[in-house]
Amino acid sequence: MNDLHVTDVTYVVGRPLLDGVGLTFPAGRLTALSGPSGSGKTTLLSIAGGLLQPSAGSTAYAGAPMWRGTGDPRPEVAFVLQVYGLVPILSARENVSIALRARGVPAREADERAQQALARFHIADLGDRQVEELSGGQMQRVALARGLCVGAPVLLADEPTSELDEGNRSLVLAELRREADQGSVVVVATHDPAVVEACDLHFALDEGRLVDHTEPVHLKPVHLKPAAPAPVAVSAARPDPSAPVSPAVPPTADEPKAPTTTSDGDPHSAFRRPGAGG
Ligand SMILES: Nc1ncnc2c1ncn2[C@@H]1O[C@H](COP(=O)(O)OP(=O)(O)O)[C@@H](O)[C@H]1O
Ligand SMILES: [Mg+2]
Repeated sequence: MNDLHVTDVTYVVGRPLLDGVGLTFPAGRLTALSGPSGSGKTTLLSIAGGLLQPSAGSTAYAGAPMWRGTGDPRPEVAFVLQVYGLVPILSARENVSIALRARGVPAREADERAQQALARFHIADLGDRQVEELSGGQMQRVALARGLCVGAPVLLADEPTSELDEGNRSLVLAELRREADQGSVVVVATHDPAVVEACDLHFALDEGRLVDHTEPVHLKPVHLKPAAPAPVAVSAARPDPSAPVSPAVPPTADEPKAPTTTSDGDPHSAFRRPGAGG
């Protein structure tokens, strides 16, 4: 079980979007990353997950840097992107299945596991539906199914409940909790106080700087789960994250590359829906 370390990260695009951010996202815990729109949450998750290279500082997981020189995340990392990153012309099940196939799971098994992942979010009946026919909340749950189905030891979820009603928000929080209980690092960017409340730790960003970073707020110590199971149990429950990714499918077919070359110069433009705020 490994923590995800962010050390003194600065990210400058004209001005600093992140400024000297240092923190640890612990394994086996649900960590909230809050802050107003534009405070740098998506930028920090992108750097923490290896999509973007920090201008200064570093990020490391299990003793190795997250940035691998290309913007391809390490196979240990799964994202739930703020704007879902789904392929509109594929079905809901296919969108989930490609994440598993990209990690070397045979097609038939991947489809079965994808269907099970949809069921976790109560959208099993939408498996055959084309994504472009789904509502925002349904797409958000497909993106969650895709992010969680691979059992990644690092799960970075960017505002994963923004389009959900209270019932579905609770469902999603329970599923994220389940991932943390398996020993994963689980980070949830949010500006929903109810989501922050449900987490074990809370880091807040403001204008690219960490607030309260010397003393992460333990919001609900009484709800802290016991420490996650021993590494042996974790590795039994998880696919081997160091296993080679199938060469037949690009390792990040399910996850957008670091969008550093977009015509508008915005590294996050691929993550945003038109008109969607922070
Ligand atoms: N390429 C860029 N050039 C200039 N500003 C950018 C670029 N990409 C993002 N930003 C700005 O960086 C800030 C942080 O963005 P972001 O990480 O998306 O914040 P959050 O996820 O908290 O809403 C915002 O003010 C955003 O507009
Ligand atoms: Mg954001």
